[in-house]
Amino acid sequence: MAMLSAKLVQPPLRPCLKLFSTTHLTRHENPLGLPLRSNSAPQMPRRGGPIQQRHIPHVKKVIAVASGKGGVGKSTLAVNLAFALAMKKFSILGRRPRVGILDLDIFGPSLPTMMGLQHSDEPTLTSSGSILPIINHGLPTMSMGYLLPKSTENALKEDAAIVWRGLMVQKAVQQLLFDVDWREGGHGPGLDLLIVDMPPGTGDVPLTLGQLVVVDGAVIVSTPQDVSLADVRRGIAMFRKISVPITGTILNQAYFVCPSCTTQHQLFGSPDAFRSMASTLGVPVLSELPLVKGVSIGGDSGIPYSLTANSQQTEMDGAGGAVWRSALASAADRVWKSLGQEG
Ligand SMILES: Nc1ncnc2c1ncn2[C@@H]1O[C@H](COP(=O)(O)OP(=O)(O)OP(=O)(O)O)[C@@H](O)[C@H]1O
Ligand SMILES: [Mg+2]
Repeated sequence: MAMLSAKLVQPPLRPCLKLFSTTHLTRHENPLGLPLRSNSAPQMPRRGGPIQQRHIPHVKKVIAVASGKGGVGKSTLAVNLAFALAMKKFSILGRRPRVGILDLDIFGPSLPTMMGLQHSDEPTLTSSGSILPIINHGLPTMSMGYLLPKSTENALKEDAAIVWRGLMVQKAVQQLLFDVDWREGGHGPGLDLLIVDMPPGTGDVPLTLGQLVVVDGAVIVSTPQDVSLADVRRGIAMFRKISVPITGTILNQAYFVCPSCTTQHQLFGSPDAFRSMASTLGVPVLSELPLVKGVSIGGDSGIPYSLTANSQQTEMDGAGGAVWRSALASAADRVWKSLGQEG
């Protein structure tokens, strides 16, 4: 099966190769340095002007994975949810869905590392000037991390992004949303579903996404601690304000299953406050996932945990790993159903 094999698959070379350079990020109206195109990204609406929401080209459905808080597991879940969905065969399609991941964390992109693509070359362009996604494990991905100037020192790489002002961030987000060609190799069918990994907080990026793009749902990630819940409330309120439907919440790191005794330990406290918050806000709980060592190792090693059944690590994780897999699979089913698609 070509899909989901652990082999690095680079997009086929197109006649018009890389025409842009991200090493000269001087123009805030075109921060990614893409060749100018006639059908440019829509503009942010002026105060009081009409909102111009558009569909992302060649993408049928869009789900954002977000949270008001940093470090709760958004990127980990975005990547693993994408694989969980991509591995399921849905009868309505008669095949597995075509799923991609877009990392909109401009200042702290994690997708390249989590996908094992941190050393990949810059993406290539199609002849019409769109950026081609970079593929690994069978899944197409796009991230600011692929577009930053390569440097032997990570610190320098990060510096390249953090000097950007708000307007450049907004423009980069627009280009990532509208100037990526999600069709394989720039032709053929597009994606059934794009999972968007959001940066922490309720700033410009989620606002730009919600105002410019038709987003079919937001999955809000939380951990059990009170500080996380407060931020999650803000995140839900923000998406509601910009009319993005809330698909549901996921409680991440809800507990730890001891590999030797299989007892559940609620390391970060009881899930009761989270459950009652979700019920008060009328938001479904899609899943409660345990803390699993292999999930973290998978993120760092670029091989997502949902791809590593029956490995030595999953044996060491014991029951917790199996519980995590089944909880993730059920979240994926519910996300799919929320899109109006049946099993
Ligand atoms: N269920 C889990 N079990 C074990 N480790 C986890 C789990 N969920 C997340 N982690 C680990 O927690 C760390 C933070 O996760 P991640 O980067 O996905 O969070 P984030 O919300 O995307 O952060 P940021 O807000 O900075 O983008 C990572 O090292 C990840 O591997
Ligand atoms: Mg992240």
